[in-house]
Amino acid sequence: MASIQILDKSFVPYISKEKIQLRIEEIANDINQKFEGKKPIFLAILNGSFMFVSDLFKEITIESEISFVKLISYEGTSSTGTVKKALGLETDLHDRHVIIVEDIVDTGNTMASFIPDLEKSGAATITLVTLLHKPDATVKDVKIDYCGFSIPDKFVVGYGLDYDQLGRNLPEIYQLVD
Ligand code: IMP
Repeated sequence: MASIQILDKSFVPYISKEKIQLRIEEIANDINQKFEGKKPIFLAILNGSFMFVSDLFKEITIESEISFVKLISYEGTSSTGTVKKALGLETDLHDRHVIIVEDIVDTGNTMASFIPDLEKSGAATITLVTLLHKPDATVKDVKIDYCGFSIPDKFVVGYGLDYDQLGRNLPEIYQLVD
């Protein structure tokens, strides 16, 4: 398989565009059924999820909204550690069905600090959709409702995911060659 080079690292094709698209259709079908009549709001976590959410949202046929947020880290109290704050969230989420769209759950730290924060918004339900999950790397208890692909604990790029900000434009997912 043709490998690619990004900066100092080599990557090989890992999950094809077609495979991603088929999985997205399955996830979208489930969401369309489950959230019919509930007008969910998709909350896309930037930057990594932009390509995934774009393809996923095209397959959503029910009435729904979308909003884009960027999570920034700031130091919480010693008991909470690093907390993620959402920038760009202007919609009132009270009583709304929120569907978080993430690129990857790795250690789980990001979602483990963001979801409790989101719960304070008074959302009716919070659902987590992630394209990728590295179960062997996850140290936090994060409930994933929809997962595209469960993958080994190896670095991946492409389809929105970056290596040092590069590789996001690749239409499929590549895995690091070690
Ligand atoms: P977590 O907080 O460790 O779960 O990681 C969350 C963020 O780390 C993701 O949203 C990604 O932006 C980034 N990340 C984790 N693993 C990878 C990877 O293999 N490739 C690219 N980005 C990654």
